[in-house]
Amino acid sequence: MKILMINGTLRQGSSYHVGKLVIDKIAEDEDEIIELFLPKDMPEFCRGCAVCITDSEKKCPDYLMYMKRVTRMIDAADLLVFTSPVHVLHVTGAMKALLDHYGYRFMVHRPEESMFRKQAVCITTGAGGGMRSTLRDMKVSLRFWGVARIYTYGIAVGAIRWEDVEMPVKERIVEGIDKLSLKLTREIDKVEPSILTEVLFYVLRHMHKKGMNPVDQEYWREKGWLGKERPWKKKTGIPKSE
Ligand SMILES: Cc1cc2nc3c(=O)[nH]c(=O)nc-3n(C[C@H](O)[C@H](O)[C@H](O)COP(=O)(O)O)c2cc1C
Repeated sequence: MKILMINGTLRQGSSYHVGKLVIDKIAEDEDEIIELFLPKDMPEFCRGCAVCITDSEKKCPDYLMYMKRVTRMIDAADLLVFTSPVHVLHVTGAMKALLDHYGYRFMVHRPEESMFRKQAVCITTGAGGGMRSTLRDMKVSLRFWGVARIYTYGIAVGAIRWEDVEMPVKERIVEGIDKLSLKLTREIDKVEPSILTEVLFYVLRHMHKKGMNPVDQEYWREKGWLGKERPWKKKTGIPKSE
């Protein structure tokens, strides 16, 4: 299994440690684990040119320098682990900047096929509150990317530094991560999209059939998704458009 961890901060603090607990719990010796840290691995803000949506993601000003590499890693991974501390009730600016760069991958545009067979975990820690809205920031993107199974874990750690997190809280984290790991390893060879993801796919398929953005419609047609193919199923042969 390939595991990609994307951390919304350079600090290897509480959120990172909780994410590492998940990985340590489920990874086998032969698994490949890659860790990225933002903003180091993708330090640019989205400029809002929208060229990724209207033309091609390869024309994004950040594609060659950063996005190409990060995207290749995301696509190759079986499990995505996103971590971010709560910063004023939401993900860090660095995490948001990365997610903004993937607007073109929303199902309303051009979702990447492999997402529909991936699992993802979103993790956050806050001093006291805002975990729900922070998890939502990450989960919404992953849902619209088409990720098959998405899990979340957030906890108030009551501290700024991991070293200052009290032992009872750390014990609660270990318990929570044990439960989460069981879900992650359940039928790991049969990862299929949740009903919600499938419903979203069909709603947007209907929209693409009517036609909105020509680039997106052509993408869906080429994939065969306007016909009988589905991103979570093995190919049936030549794509058929309706
Ligand atoms: C700029 C900034 C904003 C923060 N905003 C919040 C907040 O809205 N709610 C909260 O509970 N904690 C907030 N915190 C505290 C951190 O979320 C908390 O200490 C977290 O566990 C740190 O995680 P890390 O060690 O992974 O960086 C904030 C910290 C910083 C630096």
